[in-house]
Amino acid sequence: MPKAIFATGINGLVGSHFRDAFADTHKIVSLDVADPKTPVDITHPEQVLRALSSTKGKYVLHLAAYTNVTEAWKQNGDKNGIAYKVNVEGTKNIITACQRLGLHLIHVSTAYVFDGKKRDLYTEDDPINPIEWYGQTKADAEQAVMESAIDWTVLRIDQPFRSDYFPRLDIAHRIIDGLENNSLYPQFTNHYFGPTYINDFSKVIDWVIRTGTTGLFNASSGEQWTDYEFATALANTRNIVTEIKKGNLDKYLKTLERPYQRNTAMDTSKLQKVLDFKLTPISKALTEIE
Ligand SMILES: NC(=O)c1ccc[n+]([C@@H]2O[C@H](COP(=O)([O-])OP(=O)(O)OC[C@H]3O[C@@H](n4cnc5c(N)ncnc54)[C@H](OP(=O)(O)O)[C@@H]3O)[C@@H](O)[C@H]2O)c1
Repeated sequence: MPKAIFATGINGLVGSHFRDAFADTHKIVSLDVADPKTPVDITHPEQVLRALSSTKGKYVLHLAAYTNVTEAWKQNGDKNGIAYKVNVEGTKNIITACQRLGLHLIHVSTAYVFDGKKRDLYTEDDPINPIEWYGQTKADAEQAVMESAIDWTVLRIDQPFRSDYFPRLDIAHRIIDGLENNSLYPQFTNHYFGPTYINDFSKVIDWVIRTGTTGLFNASSGEQWTDYEFATALANTRNIVTEIKKGNLDKYLKTLERPYQRNTAMDTSKLQKVLDFKLTPISKALTEIE
């Protein structure tokens, strides 16, 4: 029997795809806060240690996070708030247990660790400079991982979407919903992001597990899209004939309380040089959406 892959947040938007796609390959042991029998809240160090000691394992895939960026902003600077507790203290609890048990941590992070001011793609060498609280907590978490003495792999993603439907709609399914119901809000022509195809990202996680690769990797598509381009491509792919209104990020920012990154697209050439499969071009990934 293969050694267990412990996983946090495996029932979320990103993790559940890996869980289902690789159910026959990996024995996944979930640390799930909603488990009716043995809930594991990562903010409780003793629960984390007990769960990671429950069977022989080699990897901890850590996806659990407080991911509501708008709600996190309401906790700005609050280290007693749930965002900090889950994202930073929860991650530190996992690091401590990994250190004790000799486990390799695969930590999933975000492009929101950057300030978004760079026009080009962000590389792993670019300094991080979060501008809002979710990004700050995720930055603190990845720093704690990278400063630790354990074996670690940090994978940063941005705006993930998957080919199948998931109840918490991803960016692509939200846009499809808006296109089909004629309720799509104006799409920014001056906001840039680097979509992550979750179907590929699951394969990246599997690749880390197969190869034991360590280090920091930007793990989105490596492409840069505006919201308007992305929505237009989706409409074209699905033969939806409709006018997509253009939005202006600068105008929107005047109405928004929390800071917003103008560009979160990342360069993934470091990852693509070592991966043993090719990432799907986003234009092709869009055609695979159900
Ligand atoms: N979605 C994005 O746009 C995006 C972009 C960049 C990076 N990321 C990163 O990718 C990872 C996965 O994101 P996602 O979108 O799949 O997240 P998600 O759908 O919000 O799922 C988060 C998961 O974390 C679990 N969780 C929350 N608090 C917990 C706690 N105290 N103890 C144990 N588990 C807890 C949740 O469990 P319950 O469901 O039971 O509450 C849920 O399964 C996160 O690290 C996130 O920061 C996401």
